[in-house]
Amino acid sequence: MLSTDALLAELEPTAATLLERHLASAKEWFPHDLVPWSRGRDFEAGYEWDPSEVELSDEVRSALFVNLLTEDNLPYYFRTIEGMFGRDSAWGTWARRWTAEEGRHSIVIRDYLTVTRAIDPVQLERARMAQVECGQVPEPETALDGFAYVALQELATRIAHHNTGKLLDDKAGYDVMKRVASDENRHHIFYRDLVSAALELEPSGMVCAIERQVRTFEMPGTGIIDFDAHAKAIAKAGIYDFAAHHDQILVPVVLRHWGVESLTGLDAEAEQARAALVKRIERIGKAGRRFAARRAEHPERELATVS
Ligand SMILES: [Fe+2]
Ligand SMILES: [Fe+2]
Repeated sequence: MLSTDALLAELEPTAATLLERHLASAKEWFPHDLVPWSRGRDFEAGYEWDPSEVELSDEVRSALFVNLLTEDNLPYYFRTIEGMFGRDSAWGTWARRWTAEEGRHSIVIRDYLTVTRAIDPVQLERARMAQVECGQVPEPETALDGFAYVALQELATRIAHHNTGKLLDDKAGYDVMKRVASDENRHHIFYRDLVSAALELEPSGMVCAIERQVRTFEMPGTGIIDFDAHAKAIAKAGIYDFAAHHDQILVPVVLRHWGVESLTGLDAEAEQARAALVKRIERIGKAGRRFAARRAEHPERELATVS
C-alpha cells in the first residue's frame, strides 16, 4: 500500500491533466447576472418575514436552507481539501480553483433568496452563524477515502441543487440552481476520474475506501440546525432520497463508471469490501423503491433511514 505522499505524487500528473481539462471547459459566469434584482426592495426596520410572501412548500424551503448553509461551510471544506492534497503542484492549484468556484455558489443563492424573500433572512443568518461557528464537515481518514467521498458528494450536491431548482417554479431561481449544479457536476467529474486513476494504481485500497464511503455516506449538513428534520423534508419532496442516491449515483458511477464489479487483482479484504458494497447498493435501491411507493401512497408520512 502506497503512503499518502507517494500516492499523491503518483497521481499528480493525472490531477494536472484533469485540472487542465476542467479549466479548458470552464465558462465564466457572474452571480449578479442571474439575480432578479428588480424584484427586491429594502427590508424596513423590525421586518418580520412572512412565508406567504412567496408561495413555496416547506420542503423546497428546507432544501434551499440546507443547500445554502452547506455552501456557506466552505472554509471547512477548504481546510479538509487542502489538508488532504497539500498546497503544492496541481493539487494545490486545484484546491484553490475549486474554492474560488465554490465561493460563488453561496453568493448567488443568497442574493437570489434575499431579493425574492423565499426564506426567512433572519433565521437563515442565525443558522449560518451557528453552522460556521461549529465548523463541522466530514473528514475522511485517508486520501483514497477523500477521493471517494468528494466524488459522491459533488454529484449528490448537483442533484439536490438541480431538483430544488426545478421545484422553485421560478425561471430566475431555476437558472441560479442550474448554474450552480453545473459547477458541481464539473467538480464531480474531476473527482470521479481521479478515482478511476486511483483504481488502476491501488485497486484494493480504492475499493475498500469506496465501500467505506458508500456505507457512511450522508448528504452534507451535519451541524446545521434541525438537519434531520430538513433532510427528511428534502427526501419527502424527492429532491434527494434513496432512489436518487441509487439510480443517479451508485449505479451510474460506482457500478458502471468505476466498474467495481469487474475489477480484477483485488486482495482478500477488497474482495470482501466489494461484495459488501454491491449488496449495499442493491439494498439502497430496494429501499428507494419502497420509500417512493410509500410516499406516493402516504405523502404525509415521514421516511425511515437505511443503514
Ligand atoms: Fe457548491
Ligand atoms: Fe462543488
